[in-house]
Amino acid sequence: MAPFTKLCVALSILSLLACCTNAQLVNNFYATTCPSLETTVRNTMTSAIKNESRIGASILRLFFHDCFVNGCDGSILLDDTATFTGEKNAAPNRNSARGFEVIDAIKTSVEASCNATVSCADILALAARDGVFLLGGPSWIVPLGRRDARTASQTAANNQIPSPFSDLSTLTSMFSAKGLTANDLTVLSGAHTIGQGECRLFRTRIYNETNIDPNFATLRKTTCPLSGGDTNLAPLDTLTPTTFDNNYYKDLVAKKGLFHSDQVLFNNGSQDSLVTSYSTNSATFLNDFAAAMIKLSRISPLTGTNGEIRKNCRLVN
Ligand code: HEM
Repeated sequence: MAPFTKLCVALSILSLLACCTNAQLVNNFYATTCPSLETTVRNTMTSAIKNESRIGASILRLFFHDCFVNGCDGSILLDDTATFTGEKNAAPNRNSARGFEVIDAIKTSVEASCNATVSCADILALAARDGVFLLGGPSWIVPLGRRDARTASQTAANNQIPSPFSDLSTLTSMFSAKGLTANDLTVLSGAHTIGQGECRLFRTRIYNETNIDPNFATLRKTTCPLSGGDTNLAPLDTLTPTTFDNNYYKDLVAKKGLFHSDQVLFNNGSQDSLVTSYSTNSATFLNDFAAAMIKLSRISPLTGTNGEIRKNCRLVN
């Protein structure tokens, strides 16, 4: 073989190796190995949301909490065992993260048609997208090919998922640590257009803060007393809590953000103008949200030969 041909062969082998240990996510990853995947996810999500509309919100939040802790690797789905401590009981998730049974149901259906092929991390990414879409939000193409973690980190979940008591600078730096900008923070926080939050997490806001509409504070106090009622729920979006729209931003402009971390996005700071623009331009918000979800979904995936395809999303194989 001529030296040049030899070089070309060597380079192709090298690039092949690089491809398969450090592969990229791709849109058509399961096109031949599991063509029914997206329909299966969509059907299960449709019946889950028919049963309880909040579940779409809960699964969207699960995906965010998965991606913020060592990447979108399905780590949040692992159960604690006698010898394994996972992320489910980290402070931001304990008695709060929900929707695991729906992911189990999707996984069972997917396994029935495509045995040991599709990762739990990819199922969660698709289910989150479908929840948004089925509640009236945008759709997007989910890049696929994630593999599942064999480990989880409760410490990382405690330290890397933002708190509802955080200020804008903390939120911005926590998002920046994941490769996301302050604008990504603002548009992804628009996920709070759906779902519910507990009294214990917004009590100080409604009793102590000044950047709040007084009628809104009074209304929330009726079901969130100064003491007790910690787990009583309130909608994150006062106007349309089960529809994915831009009303969250209208709330912020009206000083009706439920959490401190919501209202800091509109509190005479750097994000005010973007919040105002989303509050009046629904199409821009929905479009930017879809793009930011794709960005979120690309955080540090395990690909190629890293990780595994879990058989049961709750357990390492
Ligand atoms: C920016 C920082 C964020 C903070 C501090 C935050 C905090 C919270 C808190 C405290 C709750 C209520 C939990 C409970 O009461 O049990 C919540 C709910 C929720 N969060 Fe966030 N979140 C943030 C960003 C996001 C992002 C980026 C997404 C998704 C893209 C998201 C999606 C949701 C959804 C959909 C719910 C409602 C869940 C349900 O009803 O079960 N959040 N968030």
